[in-house]
Amino acid sequence: MYSLARELLFKLSPETAHELSIDLIGAGGRLGLNGLLTKAPARVPVSVMGLEFPNPVGLAAGLDKNGDAIDGFAQLGFGFIEIGTVTPRAQPGNPKPRLFRLPEAEAVINRMGFNNLGVDHLLARVQAAKYNGVLGINIGKNFDTPVERAVDDYLACLEKVYPHASYVTVNVSSPNTPGLRSLQFGDSLKELLEALRRRQEDLTEEYGRRVPLAIKIAPDMSDEETALVASALLNADMDAVIATNTTLGREGVDGLAHADEAGGLSGAPVRDKSTHIVRVLASELAGRLPIIAVGGITDGRHAAEKIAAGASLVQIYSGFIYKGPALIREAVDAIAALRK
Ligand SMILES: Cc1cc2nc3c(=O)[nH]c(=O)nc-3n(C[C@H](O)[C@H](O)[C@H](O)COP(=O)(O)O)c2cc1C
Repeated sequence: MYSLARELLFKLSPETAHELSIDLIGAGGRLGLNGLLTKAPARVPVSVMGLEFPNPVGLAAGLDKNGDAIDGFAQLGFGFIEIGTVTPRAQPGNPKPRLFRLPEAEAVINRMGFNNLGVDHLLARVQAAKYNGVLGINIGKNFDTPVERAVDDYLACLEKVYPHASYVTVNVSSPNTPGLRSLQFGDSLKELLEALRRRQEDLTEEYGRRVPLAIKIAPDMSDEETALVASALLNADMDAVIATNTTLGREGVDGLAHADEAGGLSGAPVRDKSTHIVRVLASELAGRLPIIAVGGITDGRHAAEKIAAGASLVQIYSGFIYKGPALIREAVDAIAALRK
């Protein structure tokens, strides 16, 4: 059934197709219809970061940036939903076109630039949703906030989303906000993590609940850099790491239409790079911090591969565009088969 929808959607510009999909999934969710579109995935419960997940396959950040279709995505069978990236203030993002399909490679290039309606809009959407499963809220900084002041934006978002999130993801790995990725390294990372942890402790006291903090990192790192990130996360006592965001590399798309567009590449071409980061993290972290793996899952096998590499949970984005909701169940089944 999705192949027909995909044929129609792929006739539209990628961003129009994206907006229409969010509208349809959101409307289906409000009417409680989306469960009819696809067979529900098996229950494969898992406990991570102190949270209970009905299955380990989640929606990655960036598909529902404003939280407009939370119930709709949940009804498709995701074990958890991550919304955002949200910034303190609404911002338009980069000029269009900024989203490109590379179907021959099951890939996407985007330079959206955190287009979003701001944290207050997102929270209104969260409050309007009926969903009571695991909800991650992914936070970032506004384009015009200097990177030296980035911590203020993350703290402002953390304070607002804290009482409404199951976990909060700190996105320091989008390639489309200049300077953002520098926050993944050295003193900048250490200072950011310390500030977030201090605020998390205050908020834990205020709300009587510790909301876990996850850091989302890029795939474009050497093993040495990945090891440094791992030790910084352990030192700061973070709750999880999400690996990975999109890549600036262009391996696997050479010569294809749109391959030279600026932005982050996702889908099949980022898969191995991303799984490699998961392996390095798993060996450095040795079970002390859970890993959420994302990048290039386009069929069930790849989801199982991420778990075998050391992840506790997976997320999908580009694979959902190419394969539709059936990919969720396929990924859940492949992961369940690992347990047998
Ligand atoms: C169009 C688009 C927008 C994205 N926006 C965000 C975002 O706002 N925040 C974020 O953390 N990741 C964002 N991502 C990255 C995805 O969450 C994911 O990490 C990446 O695409 C790799 O997974 P995939 O190969 O399954 O797509 C975006 C990806 C795409 C394709």
